Amino acid sequence: MSSPIKPRFITFEGIDGAGKSSHISFVVDLLVARGIRVTSTREPGGTALGEQLRTVLLHQKMHLETEALLMFASRREHLAQVIEPALARGDWVISDRFTDATFAYQGGGRHLSRAKLEQLEQWVHPHVQPDLTLLFDVPLDVARRRLDATRSLDKFEQEQEDFFAGVRGEYLRRAAQFPARFRIIDSTQSMDAVRQDLAAIVAHL
Ligand code: TYD
Repeated sequence: MSSPIKPRFITFEGIDGAGKSSHISFVVDLLVARGIRVTSTREPGGTALGEQLRTVLLHQKMHLETEALLMFASRREHLAQVIEPALARGDWVISDRFTDATFAYQGGGRHLSRAKLEQLEQWVHPHVQPDLTLLFDVPLDVARRRLDATRSLDKFEQEQEDFFAGVRGEYLRRAAQFPARFRIIDSTQSMDAVRQDLAAIVAHL
């Protein structure tokens, strides 16, 4: 008898406009086709409270530490209500962003110290880390062009180039710091080429 497939926690990351969201359902479909039960979720959000916090976080200006604390507050609820129960019942969890986003946006983008963010990470999830993080990477000008000009941009999407340079830089720094967990996806490629890369990564899981 084959042993059950070990549950896994997979996160999708990247700067706004890198195109990660369009690939999440593709990966979920690949896993479901392999008979894996998948819980697909997102941050900030993923719970009723988290979605309310998301609305505030994406539209209201606030002190940078308030922003980081609310990201982790939303995450605490998300872990308790969604991520930990899903992993415990054997589902794989796919999350559109997780703690790497806080290091990238509030750390790299807004310059909140890494030490403070590490303290919050230790407090909120000392024992949980993604097994795999797919980082969708594109140069800033490409990302900017991809942001949909037909809808209004949220608080983060309205930030300037130096903010996104900091966000991208911190994502790449973390990818270098945790090479066993991160896979960098060259998101300047065509949709089909990105999908081929994703299928190859998923096939090896
Ligand atoms: P995003 O995931 O890009 O959703 P959509 O594709 O619907 O725009 O939006 C979430 C925004 O929140 C994004 O700009 C990054 C930001 N964010 C942080 O600043 N810190 C965090 O910890 C997380 C999870 C997200």
